[in-house]
Amino acid sequence: MTSAASTAYDVAAVRADFPALRAGAAHFDGPGGSQVPRQVAHAVAATLGSPIANRGRLTEAERNADDVVLAARAAVADLVGGDPGGVVFGRSMTQLTYDLSRTLAASWGPGDEVVVTRLDHDANVRPWVQAAAARGATVRWADLDPDTGELTAGALRAVLSDRTRLVAVTGASNLIGTRPDVAALTALAHDAGALAYVDGVHLTAHAPVDVAALGADLYACSPYKFLGPHLGCVTAAPALLETLHPDKLLPSTDAVPERFELGTLPYELLAGTTAAVDYLAALGGPGGDRRARLTAGMAAVEAHEDRLRERIEEGIAELPGVTLWSRARHRTPTLLLTFADRPAAEVSRALAERRVNAPAGNFYAIEASRRLGLGDAGGLRVGLAPYSDDADVDRLLEGLRAAL
Ligand SMILES: Cc1ncc(COP(=O)(O)O)c(C=O)c1O
Repeated sequence: MTSAASTAYDVAAVRADFPALRAGAAHFDGPGGSQVPRQVAHAVAATLGSPIANRGRLTEAERNADDVVLAARAAVADLVGGDPGGVVFGRSMTQLTYDLSRTLAASWGPGDEVVVTRLDHDANVRPWVQAAAARGATVRWADLDPDTGELTAGALRAVLSDRTRLVAVTGASNLIGTRPDVAALTALAHDAGALAYVDGVHLTAHAPVDVAALGADLYACSPYKFLGPHLGCVTAAPALLETLHPDKLLPSTDAVPERFELGTLPYELLAGTTAAVDYLAALGGPGGDRRARLTAGMAAVEAHEDRLRERIEEGIAELPGVTLWSRARHRTPTLLLTFADRPAAEVSRALAERRVNAPAGNFYAIEASRRLGLGDAGGLRVGLAPYSDDADVDRLLEGLRAAL
């Protein structure tokens, strides 16, 4: 690992690790998927270039596959503060959430209730809505306050009952960055006797995470949002997973967590996931175990991104006709903007001509976009990443000035 590790956040050293940045674009598209450091690409390629077979302990090829899986479970567990024995991998968070929603819903019936929110990405909404419908259970919606962008404990309390079986809530909004008080929300869910399924896809890329402190019974995230390859994972207590029985093939193992992982895992992407976690840990400096370095590294990322976010907010405050929808008290560095005189999609195109990548849309947080009064068009999303720097911010602000 390189020079990226230091006490002061060294963004130049970080950027030197990202081959994609040499293409010259300023990337504000991280919330859709981050760029990847060379260490991750090397780990993927090295795995594909090594003897590899199905998991086992007999041949070198079998051991390589097994070691890669166990290392990735340990890495994700360190990243989120979970138990490696409860880390489930899958193609994406969406796929895992669909699978788990059907498995969890097997015990639901008429009269049971499920709570989803108007803040969440649709991947933590529709699977639960559809699973509830299939079982005759009722869906209740915790509302988003469109003025503040907050999802409050009061909004959840208003829809909880002693029939609530599950609360699905986001750790942070990928549209407007809101970080609800997840610990307070999951405590309410638990008081009602419900499980809490927390979508950590956006949050995990921007802050230290501790699933126990969040009170998440199941915590979903996607490595491709935190500098890793394209796959998804869910972390839960192994004891909880033992109570759940997904559909599976007859000859495949019934062990936890494997019984939730359908088919052969993408070993090369798991190796890349471990490399991404190790990269983030290196940002925390040399001291302590990986979990401690990750906590320090993500705190350094958070401070770096927050400083740049403040610069962007100061810059856009001086521009005419810009509305900033990211207003929550506690939030990630993810800004949603609309413009009085130009559709966001046009502004996005104008920025793209300058190689400033900031997409427009609702980003599948369609309920939130509609609740904010932005319909399905959403707005322009400006997202920061560990490799963002002041020059990127300058280019963004110049591009916006020219576009408006
Ligand atoms: C907050 C949030 N949840 C869920 C998802 C879906 O993740 P995946 O692409 O792994 O299914 C995304 C992807 O953008 C997201 O931002």
